[in-house]
Amino acid sequence: MVQTRKQAREATPDAKSASVTATPSPKKSKYKAKTLDAEDRVYFGALDLLRILVGVLVFSSTLSYFIIGDSYVWGQDKFFRKQWNGVKKVFTKPLYLDEATLALYNGTDDTLPIYLSINCTIYDVTEGKSKYGPGGGYSFFAGRDASRAYITGDFKNDLTWDVSGIDEERVQRALGHWVKFFASHDIYTFVGYLVKDPGKAKDAPKEDLNDEKKQGNEHNPDDL
Ligand code: HEM
Repeated sequence: MVQTRKQAREATPDAKSASVTATPSPKKSKYKAKTLDAEDRVYFGALDLLRILVGVLVFSSTLSYFIIGDSYVWGQDKFFRKQWNGVKKVFTKPLYLDEATLALYNGTDDTLPIYLSINCTIYDVTEGKSKYGPGGGYSFFAGRDASRAYITGDFKNDLTWDVSGIDEERVQRALGHWVKFFASHDIYTFVGYLVKDPGKAKDAPKEDLNDEKKQGNEHNPDDL
């Protein structure tokens, strides 16, 4: 509670100040009046500021919940989740997983989160279990880095990180689209990086993937 010094003193009167007030000398009275003015100033400490902030936040959240419904932050949940993920990323030490370890996180083990990697950056996509978990339409992306398939749309033969042979501009455009999608996603979170197994590169498809017939799709799932 905000309290003046005067009120504080009244609450715990000491004998000395009480006697001064009771028998003021005419000479001292001017000086005393000035002192009391200063003492009448309202104290506003850090704790009071904190109390007001918490009060405003609780009030705003309650109002938001009743007006917007299902949101304590005026419908800005995505924005705040994204900021929170950004903060978490700063304080989270990235994991470095090799391909065999990443494969364990493909959704088949219920006790593990679901990870996928794109352009060698691993994301936790457990929240998208309906898409990446067993039986999901994009389950082949889980537990691996299939960067090539994000470009070509060939979900059978191109489930590899090796993008060699594809036109650089196309890699930038098509893969860049999905890289941005995961990096800026409001629910999926950054986990770390893939440690590539260099031996795998030689297994990559050799056909000409710049063939127009084998075009990828850059749709934004949020728009579907
Ligand atoms: C290069 C080709 C394609 C790639 C790389 C791709 C990739 C993806 C990815 C990664 C998601 C999941 C996004 C998320 O986590 O929310 C997704 C969702 C989706 N995609 Fe594709 N996609 C491709 C082509 C297509 C095509 C051709 C169609 C339709 C004819 C399609 C229809 C959908 C639909 C309906 C969803 C939403 C699924 C859901 O929310 O459950 N995609 N796509």
